[in-house]
Amino acid sequence: MSGVRSDGGVGTEQEHPPAPAVIELDDLGFSYPDGHRALEGITLRIEAGERVAILGPNGAGKSTLCLHLNGILEATEGTVSVCGLPIFRADDVKEIRRRVGVVFQDPDDMLFMPTVEADVAFGPSNLGLPEEEVRARVERALLAVGMGGWEAAPRTTSPSGRKSGPQPPRS
Ligand SMILES: Nc1ncnc2c1ncn2[C@@H]1O[C@H](COP(=O)(O)OP(=O)(O)OP(=O)(O)O)[C@@H](O)[C@H]1O
Ligand SMILES: [Mg+2]
Repeated sequence: MSGVRSDGGVGTEQEHPPAPAVIELDDLGFSYPDGHRALEGITLRIEAGERVAILGPNGAGKSTLCLHLNGILEATEGTVSVCGLPIFRADDVKEIRRRVGVVFQDPDDMLFMPTVEADVAFGPSNLGLPEEEVRARVERALLAVGMGGWEAAPRTTSPSGRKSGPQPPRS
């Protein structure tokens, strides 16, 4: 099949539709259950590979916006799509949560299992992965951040207490 490429040239390759944006917000609005209107008319498109910082004063709505990106909060107006998947469909939300991670502002909201290993395993376990795969992912993740050897440490004595530069506890 022939066609005209976006650069104006005539090609013989099959035309592909443009890839969907990684994140697409269209006229997003959100009110908390107490009626507080935190977001209004947010339209934003983030392409693959882009790094975007969202800046604003305390209470501007940054956290509220981020919590919409994997369905923790549900838009009261407008739409949120991730890689072309609309976030309101239950099946899509499951897939979107595999792709979009949210790191909470307060580490004590994020880390709550008794040991470092159990805490890191919480996410992959909830994806329903086999135990062996969960263990392999935990090991890889801890090594990647210089925390190999911390697996059995009580969570309360490690990352939330020592947020950087950890040394494995002596056995
Ligand atoms: N659970 C809630 N119920 C009602 N209003 C809320 C709730 N959480 C946040 N808000 C309000 O929504 C608005 C946006 O809050 P949000 O936490 O998203 O702001 P933020 O930009 O992340 O602020 P910060 O810089 O302090 O983290 C604020 O006015 C806040 O008081
Ligand atoms: Mg915030």
